Amino acid sequence: MARRPIIAGNWKMNMTRAQAAQLITELKPLVADADAEVVICVPYTDIDTAVTLCKGSNIKVGAENVAWAEKGAFTGEISADMLLELGTEYVIIGHSERRQYFGETDASVNARLKTAIAKGLKPIVCVGETLEERESGKTDDVIETQVKGAFDGVSAEDAAKVVIAYEPVWAIGTGKTATSEQAEETIKAIRGVMAGLYGAAVADAVRIQYGGSMNPKNVKELMAQPDIDGGLIGGASLKAVDFSQVVNYKD
Ligand code: 13P
Repeated sequence: MARRPIIAGNWKMNMTRAQAAQLITELKPLVADADAEVVICVPYTDIDTAVTLCKGSNIKVGAENVAWAEKGAFTGEISADMLLELGTEYVIIGHSERRQYFGETDASVNARLKTAIAKGLKPIVCVGETLEERESGKTDDVIETQVKGAFDGVSAEDAAKVVIAYEPVWAIGTGKTATSEQAEETIKAIRGVMAGLYGAAVADAVRIQYGGSMNPKNVKELMAQPDIDGGLIGGASLKAVDFSQVVNYKD
């Protein structure tokens, strides 16, 4: 089954509204002819601007997190309804920076994922091992625990539509990309976990991105791997030309 590549930017905590408007205006013509699905995941305060500017273009807008609760006393959180009202389509869940700095766990990732699915947001669920875990040979176990934890109680039909991002923590923002072999090997293992949970058809349908210092120079080789279906791009998504070169990796 052919999986459509998906290249998503993760702006993290960058870009004021004015900066966002400038970047999107530059980006739009550069990615207009892309074969891949193009997404930018932006800070909450940029969503309104991004949705307005991306209307009528091929760029879809995502958030960087979503609350598990529908509404109520959850100071600082943003609900799925709030995101949907603005026209948000995608949402990143369980990014390693959330796990590392904000106490996100497999259980909270699972709760957020289930809410996103129930509300109709398209989730990009992140998993990935630390350097210590990789060096002690625990990568596959860590990934399996994270994937099983995230998808606990999610139906096969819903699981097939979720995008998974494999982001080795040691490759994020460090300039150290996983080799295409390392990325392919672990992404293949993730597909294997999905096959164990849901069967071959779901494992074959689910799109799995690589993330971690992906850039115009290494994108082609990574995307040539059979199990890598796209990228989640941090630093290189903050410059229109760089991000467009990643998006148009086939050119
Ligand atoms: P970098 O591309 O800056 O390494 O960030 C990757 C990432 O965390 C995307 O979510």
